Amino acid sequence: MEVLKRGLMLLMVFIVLQRGEGQLSENFYRNTCPNLEFIVRQEVSIKFSQTFVTIPATLRLFFHDCFVEGCDASVMISSPNGDAEKDSADNLSLAGDGFDTVIKAKQAVERQCPGIVSCADILALAARDVVVLAGGPSWEVELGRRDGLRSQASSVAGNLPEPGFNLAQLNTIFARNNLTQFDMISLSGAHTVGFSHCNRFANRLYSFSSSSPVDPTLDSNYAQQLMQACPRNVDPSIAINMDPETPRSFDNVYYQNLVSGKGLFTSDQVLFSDQASQPTVNDFARNPGNFNGAFITAMRKLGRVGVKTGNEGQIRIDCTREVNEKFVKDLSVMGRDLGESSTSTTTQMLTLCNLRTSSLYDCLWRIVKIGSWRSWLDSLSGVNGLRICELRSSSVSMAAAVPVIMTLCS
Ligand code: HEM
Repeated sequence: MEVLKRGLMLLMVFIVLQRGEGQLSENFYRNTCPNLEFIVRQEVSIKFSQTFVTIPATLRLFFHDCFVEGCDASVMISSPNGDAEKDSADNLSLAGDGFDTVIKAKQAVERQCPGIVSCADILALAARDVVVLAGGPSWEVELGRRDGLRSQASSVAGNLPEPGFNLAQLNTIFARNNLTQFDMISLSGAHTVGFSHCNRFANRLYSFSSSSPVDPTLDSNYAQQLMQACPRNVDPSIAINMDPETPRSFDNVYYQNLVSGKGLFTSDQVLFSDQASQPTVNDFARNPGNFNGAFITAMRKLGRVGVKTGNEGQIRIDCTREVNEKFVKDLSVMGRDLGESSTSTTTQMLTLCNLRTSSLYDCLWRIVKIGSWRSWLDSLSGVNGLRICELRSSSVSMAAAVPVIMTLCS
């Protein structure tokens, strides 16, 4: 019996280790991409100078990524069939500027550290950077996540919280991701920035219950204001600020709003109206330092949810597409055949893996057969926003493995 118990314990430790949690580290890229944080911060700032939406969009994207399949940038994958995570009903309101921020940062990172840094890590860094840009706290981001290989619209339903949730429902869904009620209240503070479409809370204004069409926990002036901004049957594209007081600052005013009945969603207001969570809301409303500290802890915990590490997943080159592993394998074999030691050439060639070529040899045969391979490759390279700056063939042989070296530049 004792032996069995010990065996079980060991198995559990093994499973926990296998899950990859706790294997992230703040200096994961110290030797392989020392400028990473600087590059990401710079790209996020450029994007922010173009639109404020960068801030809420990136922060929410991180949350939606982590709650479905873990923090693995699976939310960023585009599927030609429209059946990826981002295509699910719950994700259709993710603002494009969040995706764009990560895509631009990744492109800048690829220029200096090709094939090294995951999209999942870039999203985690960008989420921290946008909070800082809005005046919120800063923290060290743990790194070492790998990008996921699965992104399915069907995995989303039931894994993200709904604006109509009560405290128990919120706690349940956060607990599934190793986050406590305290973490959940802290992370809800992200609603201090950003926008919501009217349909996400219209029930609180027009059809709350048979005895009271307006939700009685809503401050009556705020309810009037919301009705003006969101009349019945309003254009579904209309969105309003979630924090009516300081919509562009990352601050604790969100909690002060809850205390005065100005929480936009049921899931916001319930944090104050339920006695079990009210003391935390009161504390955060009074003490910005407590909120900041709790938000940092919760964001770091959120960043560990279901992460893939080691040799799980992959490092995507283009955050919106999986790298074709078969092609990568072929390339490395070809690299060896050629005695090609430059990893950057190989990585740049990997960019072409995204072109859904079934095998390297098919690809090379087409190059040879078409004859004018230059224009064929030019048309392919456009897909990734890259162009071919060098193309050389060290042989004119028609053998299966024609050694062609392509170098792509952005
Ligand atoms: C607690 C449960 C949560 C619920 C029920 C919830 C629900 C929502 C809903 C319905 C919207 C409006 C979407 C729209 O109409 O476009 C929204 C926006 C937003 N949420 Fe949450 N959310 C929750 C937690 C979080 C967390 C944990 C974060 C981040 C840490 C977050 C960050 C945001 C941001 C920044 C926006 C604004 C997005 C933008 O302006 O593009 N939310 N949320």
